[in-house]
Amino acid sequence: MNAPEPLALYVHWPFCVSKCPYCDFNSHVRDDVDQARFRDALVADLRHEASVLPGRRLGSIFFGGGTPSLMPPHTVAAVLAAAEDAWGFVDDIEITLEANPSSVEAARFGDLAAAGVSRVSLGLQALDDAALAFLGRAHDVREGLAALDTAQAAFARVSFDLIYARPGQSLAAWEGELARAIGFGTEHLSLYQLTIEPGTRFATLAAKGELAIPEGDDAADLFETTQAMTAGAGLPRYEVSNHARVGAESRHNLTYWRYRDYAGIGPGAHGRRGGVATVRHRKPENWLAAVDRNGHGTQSEDVLTAQERASEALVMGLRMTEGIVVDPAFVDLAAVDRLVAQGLLMRDGHHVATTEAGILLLDSILPAIARD
Ligand SMILES: C[S@@+](CC[C@H](N)C(=O)[O-])C[C@H]1O[C@@H](n2cnc3c(N)ncnc32)[C@H](O)[C@@H]1O
Ligand code: SF4
Repeated sequence: MNAPEPLALYVHWPFCVSKCPYCDFNSHVRDDVDQARFRDALVADLRHEASVLPGRRLGSIFFGGGTPSLMPPHTVAAVLAAAEDAWGFVDDIEITLEANPSSVEAARFGDLAAAGVSRVSLGLQALDDAALAFLGRAHDVREGLAALDTAQAAFARVSFDLIYARPGQSLAAWEGELARAIGFGTEHLSLYQLTIEPGTRFATLAAKGELAIPEGDDAADLFETTQAMTAGAGLPRYEVSNHARVGAESRHNLTYWRYRDYAGIGPGAHGRRGGVATVRHRKPENWLAAVDRNGHGTQSEDVLTAQERASEALVMGLRMTEGIVVDPAFVDLAAVDRLVAQGLLMRDGHHVATTEAGILLLDSILPAIARD
């Protein structure tokens, strides 16, 4: 009999030094965090998930945030020890941590690696001091690149994030910035176009007409240049915003996009286990109280219908260049063929993927092909 498929574990750390004006992630600024209480609560939340999802080994773990590089390394080590004890690890487990590139955090990279982290995703965001100030970041380019150097020495695998399509950013300026980024030689890059998220400071500015981001053809030109340059450098896109050398993709994120099971612990974490959607309490204090009360931080558990699962799998899978295998019960193949004729989708039997033009119109493609 085949061994069950490895499971992915997401661990959310909800604290940041300051709130960036574009960010709508579940992140909170607190003067004081009760570290021992948080560590124990994460371990309890993890043990609960393992008790309802037994018999699987972990193939990947991802510490996301917020700013997980603010986690005390001994908390990371405690979570990893509990995870190995509860589930066990596959031999080449991928353990990623999202890090902000400040000097204080870079000083901890050695301890985080010693705790078991093997891959880091560094939030550089820009290679231009004025842009970093505009994005409300606590670091400048010099400090960010020093952290990148430290990360490349400390971890086996390094990726970093950049935000492009910023207000007023010309195509030539982005080409220069991206060429420099590629030159640092990491195996993976996450390149996000700036989006205005509801409820953020940038959304308020945009509503007042004080902030405008490139749209339409300008945004498409920036996207297409990004694809050409990264592909030319051996880091092709494998998901809307993610680029890697072949074999260096984020195995953890592939789990989401391929719509496989993952456990999610910590404030606001989502999980999918056997067709059940799990959500943790979002506010750190409410999550802690729930763990004290119930032994876990779950806020809701919903059984998804086959239709809901199919539409989630579609939304996730079409983000990837590898595409998906569709079930005609849930996808209208005639509608797919109309989009193939328009050059937006590719189809080989039941295997469907988007073209480069199609990925830019994903939001309108999905409702057009999904059956109700
Ligand atoms: C969980 S966040 C940040 C992790 C880490 N705290 C940091 O700031 O580097 C993951 C990434 O999403 C991207 N991101 C967040 N909000 C965004 C937005 N509104 N538009 C584009 N990219 C965004 C940033 O590149 C960020 O590094
Ligand atoms: S972008 Fe990162 S550092 Fe900034 S608020 Fe969001 S999670 Fe925190």
